[in-house]
Amino acid sequence: MKNIPNQIAIDGTAASGKTTVGKIVAKNLDYLFFDTGIMYRVAAYGADQKLHDVSDEAKVNEVVEMMDIALQNDTENGVTNVLLDGQNITDRLHLPEVDRIVSTVAAYPAVRTALTKQQRKIGLQGRVVMVGRDIGTVVMPDAEMKIYLEASPETRAKRRYLENLSNNIESETYEMILADIIKRDKNDRERAVAPLKPADDAVIIHTDDYSADEVAQKIFELMD
Ligand code: DC
Repeated sequence: MKNIPNQIAIDGTAASGKTTVGKIVAKNLDYLFFDTGIMYRVAAYGADQKLHDVSDEAKVNEVVEMMDIALQNDTENGVTNVLLDGQNITDRLHLPEVDRIVSTVAAYPAVRTALTKQQRKIGLQGRVVMVGRDIGTVVMPDAEMKIYLEASPETRAKRRYLENLSNNIESETYEMILADIIKRDKNDRERAVAPLKPADDAVIIHTDDYSADEVAQKIFELMD
């Protein structure tokens, strides 16, 4: 009989495999899959649409506070649809333009406070796999299982490049993606509030040489 945790936190760097692995784990357990990065992407996209620039922290905070964000979990297709002020913007959230500005917006403390509050509420419902950067450290510090995924910047850039191609996004070269990943890692690790780092009690898994299914398998083995 497996000891199945009620809350599973999966953190890690950009393109470390969190989303793919998290979805596999959630599907197997029939848990809610919740990608918190999506919320930061909505905040960045929405602020950029309104302000055409996200460098003014106070203005961004104001816009984010007014946003009406709704998430619809489409478990059948394994996607979370995102509505911003009633408009489905799901397919806009992984555009290179959003990749470039999201870590700036995610570093604003007021934005983090607003989004963390919503994430905690979802976490408290239990039977959840939540993925992000600060889930094990800040959002769900009491989660029974904490995983931290790591991979080299080169492996992650290659994964993101191939993922983009399969989504018909061809505007970014491998080198551009690698540069963006290195910059985002730095922003995410060095920000003052809730920086990216493994929780003290997280299990760290290096995913360079493993497929998403193999990583998910390792996570299931930890539940034995
Ligand atoms: O996982 P992702 O690439 O979709 O995340 C987008 C950005 O949001 C990334 O720069 C880090 C930030 N983020 C965060 O700061 N905290 C989270 N819990 C999730 C994402």
